[in-house]
Amino acid sequence: MQTLNVELGERSYPIYIGSGLLDQAELLAPYIAGNSTITVSNETIAPLYMQQLQMNLSGLKNCQVVLPDGEHHKTLDVLNQIYTGMLENGSDRRSTLIALGGGVVGDMGGFAAASYQRGINFIQVPTTLLSMVDSSVGGKTGVNHPLGKNMIGAFHQPQCVVIDTDTLSTLNDRELSAGLAEVIKYGLIRDTEFLGWLTENMSQLMRRDPEALAYAIYRSCQHKAEVVADDEREQGQRALLNLGHTFGHAIESGMGYGNWLHGEAVAAGTVMAAELSQKMGWLQLDEVAEIKRLLAAANLPIDPPTSLSPAEYLGYMSRDKKVQDGVMNLVLLKSMGEAVLTKDYDTDALKAVLERM
Ligand code: NAD
Ligand code: GLY
Repeated sequence: MQTLNVELGERSYPIYIGSGLLDQAELLAPYIAGNSTITVSNETIAPLYMQQLQMNLSGLKNCQVVLPDGEHHKTLDVLNQIYTGMLENGSDRRSTLIALGGGVVGDMGGFAAASYQRGINFIQVPTTLLSMVDSSVGGKTGVNHPLGKNMIGAFHQPQCVVIDTDTLSTLNDRELSAGLAEVIKYGLIRDTEFLGWLTENMSQLMRRDPEALAYAIYRSCQHKAEVVADDEREQGQRALLNLGHTFGHAIESGMGYGNWLHGEAVAAGTVMAAELSQKMGWLQLDEVAEIKRLLAAANLPIDPPTSLSPAEYLGYMSRDKKVQDGVMNLVLLKSMGEAVLTKDYDTDALKAVLERM
């Protein structure tokens, strides 16, 4: 097992990464304060891993809430099912919520924990590659609104993150690829050495080589932990983790939640951000081509959907959380391995990128 720490003073917490961690009861025990837990999962993951997780919770009063599966269920309405389960089972302020699942379960479980009785402890047990390398770390929680992605939420850090890499064995290939979009993101925004490693090892990752996957997860979590420790509330550099996300969120919202996976939308959005960066004179054409090759090698889409008009893109993009005082900020690439958050992009170049689609 490998351990990383998210350094946030008294709210610091460990990330445990390894094989077989779901069977290690002693890992969770120190992070459960009271005598009751509530495990939130969904109808796909619960049959696979709920029982295994529950074995770690003997002696505690535990209730389970099993949500419907899918991004389109990441809503305030479905969130209410968690509160109802907690109230029916007498969860109190000392209860600990355990989110067992991908980013949707983690974001919703985290938001329920942030808001139930004004905040209770929670633990992230991510089961998709995307949630292992990104969403389970850093305390961003929330749900979607029909008009915008992740528009309702809170920052609420977990007590610990337990990444059992064995759970990836049941994840389908499309979801594995979606997770790789966020892994590639770390290389593009802050680590050219990792980018080189990813280029060389993409076929091993696609073949699910356990060592390659463990390294990619560890390195990604290391980046995420560092960024979050420096800028927990996204006052500055944490925004750089959103490379491709402003375009991507427009794709997710515009195409209907769940039709494009988050990672797929981020991949196509990353290409759009790279093309705009090239038009700004920051990236070379062959670097844009290199980015496309890497994303394509991970079986990710590099072309955005053609059914959204430039005006529709701009409409969704203008509701992004990086909009400040009505001005849209974008994460672009100054060079390979160096991202920048800027409002000083050329709007004609942005329109040209959107129109090319
Ligand atoms: P997801 O949670 O929808 O999971 C993808 C699919 O895989 C689901 O059908 C799920 O049931 C299934 N699944 C999960 N684990 C499995 C396993 N081990 N075996 C078989 N099937 C499994 O999607 P995701 O990609 O994990 O997360 C995407 C969500 O994360 C989006 O809502 C996005 O906004 C959010 N997100 C949040 C942050 C953050 O910082 N909080 C960061 C990135 C993404
Ligand atoms: N996924 C972006 C962030 O956590 O800030």
